[in-house]
Order: sequence, then structure tokens, then C-alpha cells
Amino acid sequence: MSDSRLPWFGQGKVPLYLAPMARHTDVAFRSLCKSFGAEVMVTEFVQSEALLRDRAKSWEMVDFTPEQRPMGVQIFGATPSSMATAARMVCERLQPDFLDLNFGCPAHKVIEQNAGSGLLRCTPLLYDIVRAVRDAIPGTPLTAKMRLGWDVDSIVAPEVAARLESLGVEAIAVHGRTREQGYSGEADWSRIAEVVRAVRIPVIGNGDLKDGPTAVRRVRESGVAGLMVGRAALGSPWIFGEIRAALDGAPPPPPATLELRWRTLLALAEHTLSRADATLGGRDIRWMSAKLQPLTQGLPHCRRIRDALQRCRTLEEVRALARRSLSGEWDSHPVENQIDTND
Ligand SMILES: Cc1cc2nc3c(=O)[nH]c(=O)nc-3n(C[C@H](O)[C@H](O)[C@H](O)COP(=O)(O)O)c2cc1C
Repeated sequence: MSDSRLPWFGQGKVPLYLAPMARHTDVAFRSLCKSFGAEVMVTEFVQSEALLRDRAKSWEMVDFTPEQRPMGVQIFGATPSSMATAARMVCERLQPDFLDLNFGCPAHKVIEQNAGSGLLRCTPLLYDIVRAVRDAIPGTPLTAKMRLGWDVDSIVAPEVAARLESLGVEAIAVHGRTREQGYSGEADWSRIAEVVRAVRIPVIGNGDLKDGPTAVRRVRESGVAGLMVGRAALGSPWIFGEIRAALDGAPPPPPATLELRWRTLLALAEHTLSRADATLGGRDIRWMSAKLQPLTQGLPHCRRIRDALQRCRTLEEVRALARRSLSGEWDSHPVENQIDTND
């Protein structure tokens, strides 16, 4: 892989990607993941037409800082010419390390336009999009992220991946579920392994990675060149350090303490607010509650904290909540003295 334009692959290293997750993996969350060892990151998906309309909000979604490199920008759409123009604009303005095409989103409003995973049942259009984008951005590596297929009776990932490779796509991330599955059931890594066998470019495996030992097993069994972590990182961004240690055969880092969990949540709140200030002014911070909620997983009295967090209007109120939680004050109430493990 010496001539690869994706130098984070190679020399036997399996890079750890943070999965793109709309409304979560913004600049602030990505900085956090980077600090915990995420190695390659991708912006959340943005619609090609929205970029063409030049809406500030859409450009904000694909923003990144130099420290976050290597960074990819992910776009989606169903019109080859719009996808090509949007890709060119992104590459000219932001010079990402790669441009990523979304062929995996299962959301109804996306697939009804034939975009996202909708393209997996409409592969001639998918290939037209790839050709158009490939021609539009010769100087930038092109990658794709896809699901296994539309449903269990139409698993097309190996065949589509081979075609994408022949069209010049340089790496492919595969989420081991079909569109029909949404997020239910388990990711099927044996199908991801079939994609690995179908191509020579790096395949990044994705789906249900939650700990170091599982990650090691997935690499060994499927032969993927990279790993991508999604939902587990929302509640435990330190998972990147855990997986890296496991892959390197190093001892696992100590488990996240209560202090670390709160420090992380507060850091995310502060960074999110600092980036929002310019546009949101003095608005209260309840809008960011959904971004913070996943980090309450594993905290004692998690439900109670979530409820309280939802009502916090200022950062100071969140800090006060952290102080109360860390003081152990709630632990003296027997009824409340339970750790919610189901969240
Ligand atoms: C809230 C949320 C938003 C997502 N947004 C995107 C997106 O913008 N682009 C994309 O390719 N996948 C998106 N995904 C899918 C994830 O990247 C990933 O493929 C999926 O969550 C499976 O990985 P996991 O089991 O590690 O979470 C999203 C998933 C979630 C839960």
C-alpha cells in the first residue's frame, strides 16, 4: 500500500476511525475523540444541494480544525452533477484529506430521494455518482461508506465494493447491517469479511464495536484494514485508547472514573458552547442537551442526571450538577442508590 494516498493505512497499523454521526460528531465532539485516540475522522453527512445553496449552516457541518486531520468530509445526494460540484467546492475550500460518499444512511427522507442506502438498490446511479465525483476531484482521495445492501435478500456490498475500486474509490467503510435492519440485530462481520476478500483497497469495518477484545477479534477474523467506532464513542470516547491498547497488545488503560466522565461531559459542553457563541449568542444551552446525554451513561443515578441535565439552562448549572453527583450526596438516599445499567 506504499502508493496509497491514505497514508494512515499500512505498516500493519489498523487505524481507528470515529464514525460520522449526524448531530453528534461536530468539531467539539471530534476534538474530544481525538484527545482520546481517534485517529481518522469524518464529518457528519451533508447534502450536496445544501452545499450548493451555500448555506452557512451546511458549511458549519463540514467544518474541521487542522488538529483533527486526517479528516474526511462526507456528502450525500442522488444527482451526479450536484454531487460532483459539491465535492469540488468542498475540496477547494477545505482541502480535506479525503472526500467520503454516503451510501449507508437508512433515514426515510434520504432514501426517498434515492440517496444514502437507497442507492444500494439503484446501483447504476450510484456508479454514475462515483464517476462524476471522481472526475471532479482528481487531487483528493475518494472513499465511500456503505451498508451491506438493501435487505438480506440483496447483499450487494462485495460486488459494489469491487466496482467502486475499479472506479477509483480508495477505501470503503462497511457497516455490517442492511438498510432494512436499521440499527437492530447485530452487525454481520462475516459479510464485511466478504467485502475484504472482494477488493484490494482498505476496508474499514464498522458495527457494534464496544471494547478492545472484540475489536481485536474482528480484525483477526475479518481481515479489515481499519476499524470504525460509532455509538460506543458517544458515551465512552475513551474507547479509542482501549481499542488501541488491545490492538497493540498493551495493558488496557484504567477504567473511566466518575471524575473523568464528568470532566469529559463538561469539556464537551464548554467547547460546544464556545463554538456556538458566534451564532447563538446568549441563548440558553438546553439545545445541546442531546449532545451531552450519551456521556451520562455509566454514571450512578444516570436517569436522574439526565432529567436534570435536560433542564440546565447554563453551563454553571451543569457544573453544579457535576459537583452534586461527585459529592455522593445522592448516594445517601437508599431508593436512589442504584446504578442505572440499562441506559
Ligand atoms: C445518531 C447517528 C447519526 C449517524 N449519522 C451518520 C452520518 O451522518 N453518516 C454516516 O455515514 N453514518 C451515520 N451514522 C451511522 C454510523 O456512522 C455507523 O455506521 C453506525 O452507527 C454503526 O456503527 P456503531 O455500531 O459503531 O454505532 C449515524 C449513526 C447514528 C447512531
